[in-house]
Amino acid sequence: MALQMRLHCYYHHYPVLLLLLLALAAAAGGVAADDAGGRGAERTYIVRVDADAKPSVYPTHAHWYEAAVLSAAVAGDGSGEWPEGGPLIHTYSAAFHGFSARMSPAAAAALASAPGVAAVVPERVRRLATTRSPRFLGLLSSPPSALLADSDFGADLVIAIVDTGISPAHRSFHDRGLGPVPPRWRGVCASGPGFPPTSCNRKLVGARFFSKGYEATSGRMNETAEVRSPLDTDGHGTHTASIAAGRYVFPASTLGYARGVAAGMAPKARLAAYKVCWSGGCFDSDILAAFDAAVADGVDVVSLSVGGVVVPYYLDAIAIGAFGATEAGIVVSASAGNGGPGGLTVTNVAPWMATVGAGSMDRAFPANVRLGDGQVLDGVSVYGGPALEPSKMYELVYAGASGGASSAADGYSASMCLDGSLDPAAVRGKIVVCDRGVNSRAAKGDVVRRAGAVGMVLANGAFDGEGLVADCHVLPATAVGAAAGDKLRKYIASSTKQRPATGTIVFEGTHLGVHPAPVVAAFSARGPNPQSPEILKPDLIAPGLNILAAWPSGVGPAGIPSDTRRTEFNILSGTSMACPHVSGLAALLKAAHPTWSPAAIKSALMTTAYVRDNSNGTMVDESTGAVAGAFDFGAGHVDPMRAMDPGLVYDISPMDYVSFLCNLNYTEQNIRAITRRQADCRGARRAGHAGNLNYPSLSATFVAAEAGTGRATTMRTHFIRRATNVGGGPAVYRASVSAPEGCNVTVQPRQLAFRRDGQRLSFTVRVEAAVAPGERMEPGSSQVRSGALTWSDGRHVVRSPIVVTVQAPLQ
Ligand SMILES: *[C@@H]1O[C@H](CO)[C@@H](O)[C@H](O)[C@H]1NC(C)=O
Ligand SMILES: *[C@@H]1O[C@H](CO)[C@@H](O)[C@H](O)[C@H]1NC(C)=O
Ligand SMILES: *[C@@H]1O[C@H](CO)[C@@H](O)[C@H](O)[C@H]1NC(C)=O
Ligand SMILES: *[C@@H]1O[C@H](CO)[C@@H](O)[C@H](O)[C@H]1NC(C)=O
Repeated sequence: MALQMRLHCYYHHYPVLLLLLLALAAAAGGVAADDAGGRGAERTYIVRVDADAKPSVYPTHAHWYEAAVLSAAVAGDGSGEWPEGGPLIHTYSAAFHGFSARMSPAAAAALASAPGVAAVVPERVRRLATTRSPRFLGLLSSPPSALLADSDFGADLVIAIVDTGISPAHRSFHDRGLGPVPPRWRGVCASGPGFPPTSCNRKLVGARFFSKGYEATSGRMNETAEVRSPLDTDGHGTHTASIAAGRYVFPASTLGYARGVAAGMAPKARLAAYKVCWSGGCFDSDILAAFDAAVADGVDVVSLSVGGVVVPYYLDAIAIGAFGATEAGIVVSASAGNGGPGGLTVTNVAPWMATVGAGSMDRAFPANVRLGDGQVLDGVSVYGGPALEPSKMYELVYAGASGGASSAADGYSASMCLDGSLDPAAVRGKIVVCDRGVNSRAAKGDVVRRAGAVGMVLANGAFDGEGLVADCHVLPATAVGAAAGDKLRKYIASSTKQRPATGTIVFEGTHLGVHPAPVVAAFSARGPNPQSPEILKPDLIAPGLNILAAWPSGVGPAGIPSDTRRTEFNILSGTSMACPHVSGLAALLKAAHPTWSPAAIKSALMTTAYVRDNSNGTMVDESTGAVAGAFDFGAGHVDPMRAMDPGLVYDISPMDYVSFLCNLNYTEQNIRAITRRQADCRGARRAGHAGNLNYPSLSATFVAAEAGTGRATTMRTHFIRRATNVGGGPAVYRASVSAPEGCNVTVQPRQLAFRRDGQRLSFTVRVEAAVAPGERMEPGSSQVRSGALTWSDGRHVVRSPIVVTVQAPLQ
């Protein structure tokens, strides 16, 4: 199976079902599809060691690691074949102690019991799942916003972008007006094809690439198609980097859309690019090497728009690398994934990371379909080439149903507009309706254009709902939702030779001030948290729909080889685009509050997030138009100005995470694999449950054992929290509770009187939920109710969502 780019960008569209299957395959067997490389059962393993356990006979850790792999191979199945240079792929020493190497499962099992080895984790492969967003977030105002000014735009901080590399010559990364590189920076500028040593400057202070893990599994990379250097030949990494920290660029637009000033969240922060994603995907061993280098280089924030996997934290290289980074004081912000709108789809869910979902902004790109019978169907597009003829009506054809298929193809392939499935004679000069799914949205446009059609309408199926993404198609094209798609297919089905179906696409350009906004993007991945439901995920949402940001000069905006157009900026959608917004904001917060821990910064972002939209309703879900909840948007939509001065924060130390892992009932060996600490879980387990991690949100999960038995049941739990006063002086906070429907929530004490800045005070939140005597719940079903706990001193409002999940047992 050919796995292509797997960034968390919706623009590289992967069929959702295929993604689900891959995720399930990874979860079930632990053997990813990409392992079918014909190299026997060998695969890459990541090995954590106790650094102090190195026997003195080995001069270096690398000698020790090599000897360990060789003897494990002998003990395992007596074989082992390694490339020149030995068995080690990467060695790690900063975020993590250990190495990666290829070996057979038998050798891995033997190694796992070798002295000094804490864990052996099979590698997995990840997929990569603006002009407006700074203003939408209140950052662009004149005079400059207090947040930007107070933090000097994050000038001394370095944001690591772990992605597809970077296009260094882009105007968004110029270094005019920036001071010298911060003296504590220890990174390098790795050069290579297309990336001379002069590529770095005072803005782009470092660049590295990591391909050994990729090539150990996939074979030597094709250097015609991709380059062995930090150069971005895809576009995704350039786009995300400029969202986090692009400079002010004016004018910026994509083929005329979204014209204005482009700027990242922290325009003066420095960037370091760590390229880990290649045409074959993003490999765990390389991602971990990037974390390791980023920690050693001295970055302040790691931004990771790469998909997660559904495995326990001790088997998850991103969770493990992120823990090491967090321990070093680095904020790790990661994309939640694009698997929405279904539940349980959120990824990158470890509590020490910020998990970022995607929302819309108050900007839209309407491109409506006008039909011959007078109907107008709402659509969106950022197509910017030669237009259709004004006021002409074109014949419409649905390739799946009306003979548009070529003789070699079936109706299904044609309905999807797969390569070679359209009959040029049947579609020439017409507008073709294609169903969404299987191949990428941009690729469908290319298929339709090559078949000789003049336009395309991309229609959602029921599975896609009403979520729309505006694309930079290669021909006049627009996207419509599931309901409009049904109308369109019906209209075409009812046409006859005498009365053909006709229509056209009306491109309206850029609209601002759209209501309601934000809405939760349909694709944004949803809770509950599949690994630890006690921790609400996603944490929050940020702009991720139709985001304009920098684009490399060597790549067309549609992201397909046949697209020869060039544009300095491109509009993409995905949680990939939401994550770097939070990364940049985290840098601003860290600049303004240098002593805050990563958990404190995340707390500030979460407790000040808002849940109302610009129509003053609770934010809605794009896929249904219905009111969204905490599993959709977490604590809410990020509000940078308020995050600057949160009043209180919920802080978490690395030891607190150890207690949390103890309360997940992980073994001490598993905990050591993540934290490299010897955990003594007895105390932690006595002290309570995983929900007592000092997290800025509250999630109570009950199993209603007696649901449907006719007996009334009340279920109770409690949470302990500890708030730190960061408001600057004495303050008295009072609690107010909006209890989830049908639940009782009590807070004790109801008042926190802080005498000084930095003081910590604890409180308890008790939650009671009930199943009424007559209440029936389907076996395995669950009820989710949301509320909130808010502390206020009259000046600050510190809000934590409370989610109560009552689950009926399976039988
Ligand atoms: C390498 O990539 C180029 C450009 O995509 C392609 O033409 C060539 O066939 C590839 N070579 C191999 C060995 O796959
Ligand atoms: C917004 O809605 C809330 C809750 O319904 C209400 O209390 C508030 O007054 C409203 N604000 C405005 C500006 O309408
Ligand atoms: C851990 O084990 C204890 C005792 O068996 C159990 O009560 C608790 O629910 C378990 N916790 C989790 C998170 O599985
Ligand atoms: C909430 O408290 C009230 C008053 O004490 C009680 O009648 C009710 O049963 C409680 N509800 C739950 C869900 O525990």
